[in-house]
Amino acid sequence: MRISVCVVALAIACGSAPPKPVPDSTRQAVEPMPDAGARPANEPGGSGLGLADAGSDVLGAKADAGMAADGGANLRDRMADAGAQATNTAGTAAADVTEALQKLPAAPPIPETPPFLPAVEESNDNPTTPEKVALGYKLFYDKRLSRDGSMSCESCHHPDQAYTSGNAVDPKVGGAMNKRNAPAMANVAYHQNGFYWDGRTPTMEAVTAAAWKGQLGVEKPDEVVAKLNAITPYRAEFQRAFQSDATAKNVPLALAAFLRALKSGNAGWDKYEQGDQKAVSREARRGSQVFQNARCTLCHVPPLYTDSQFHNAGIGFDRPEDQRDHGRMDATKDKADDGKFLTPSLRDVAKTAPYFHDGSAKALSDAVDRMLAGGVKNPNLDEKLKRAKISPRDRRALLAYLESLTGQVTFPKAPDLP
Ligand code: HEC
Ligand code: HEC
Repeated sequence: MRISVCVVALAIACGSAPPKPVPDSTRQAVEPMPDAGARPANEPGGSGLGLADAGSDVLGAKADAGMAADGGANLRDRMADAGAQATNTAGTAAADVTEALQKLPAAPPIPETPPFLPAVEESNDNPTTPEKVALGYKLFYDKRLSRDGSMSCESCHHPDQAYTSGNAVDPKVGGAMNKRNAPAMANVAYHQNGFYWDGRTPTMEAVTAAAWKGQLGVEKPDEVVAKLNAITPYRAEFQRAFQSDATAKNVPLALAAFLRALKSGNAGWDKYEQGDQKAVSREARRGSQVFQNARCTLCHVPPLYTDSQFHNAGIGFDRPEDQRDHGRMDATKDKADDGKFLTPSLRDVAKTAPYFHDGSAKALSDAVDRMLAGGVKNPNLDEKLKRAKISPRDRRALLAYLESLTGQVTFPKAPDLP
């Protein structure tokens, strides 16, 4: 019972410093969600991914916004419930956490979506808030999230390489090798047909939970969570974001919220399209025509330079049969999907070497040459891929155009960790 009271006290302390309103469309999309808030926290058929947290968070947002008084009462009930259920064993440190909460600077607003990019589709179970994003940003960079303290998410997703690793494939914690190239994280939230190269996982929350376990080797998340809760400023940030201590469930939620806010845009080419004639070279402008004429836009569709579909470009089909990656077929078990992979976005492509799902193209020019050749021949090769013969001058122009797609990421460097 004592714990419940503490949690209520924390929630109130939290409410006394309401986060700044955020003019971003992703934020606005979160707020009018009466039905999500009204859903009982333990509703059967929920995702099991922290619906309780998400429910109280929505109520929290309402209470901040000074909406219906019963929303506030409801919030307190919900907080008491959460307290009763919480695995909070460190009740004695609650006073420290309250103090740490009061000292926390307000979470920065969620960065604006860059021009031309659509709004990110929100998760009903895990609405994006500035507090979750700020927390997820730290967790993404924190090696304490891994089993042995050796790696963070950032170890394979570096900010200066559009959140790729720079290697063809990387070892996970424990030493097992990944079989695929670590994809860019910027704009990852725009995936419409599932995550990973083969689209096998439907939600961002499921991916972040899987990465925590699979890549960072965390079989016993409660042990990691206990370490995080022992760091008072972290515990305070969890309280502020989730009205709960760190749990095995809310760590992946915070990571997912961060990734929904991680975007890249405002590239030279975007500035040019907004009327800044000097933002790109004449060569890049010519390259834009080459890109269209060579039919690259059939799959790399602006503004994200992907069609969110899976295609067989034959990459890796030159390997012996038993060493091939079957891509989408692994997810769907449909032979027609053999060798299909998600069309990668070409935003920031100049920074994401090596290329393709297996990292087999070292330089951008190698990747482009393979695409210009119409992919690698195989029985399932996509019909849209046709050989395009172009002059060396057009090839240079095409590369200059692709370089003009390098933008600015919303989180360009490491955060300070608690
Ligand atoms: C050891 C390297 C490594 C680490 C560490 C790592 N990842 Fe990844 N990540 C990968 C690889 C490889 C893939 C692609 C796997 C596939 O497609 O089958 C990937 C894919 C992803 C995707 C899906 C991207 C897409 O385009 O669909 C997300 C999201 C992601 N990782 C987030 C994380 C998070 C969060 C963490 C930390 C908990 C993390 N990763 C840690 C290597 C890593
Ligand atoms: C049929 C759809 C399709 C067309 C047309 C197409 N691509 Fe691709 N592109 C893909 C797919 C799918 C991949 C990933 C293949 C893989 O890794 O197995 C890819 C990968 C790439 C990559 C590597 C990106 C990375 O991050 O790994 C580049 C660069 C690229 N394409 C450029 C082009 C260019 C230039 C053209 C026009 C000449 C083109 N593509 C035409 C579907 C297409």
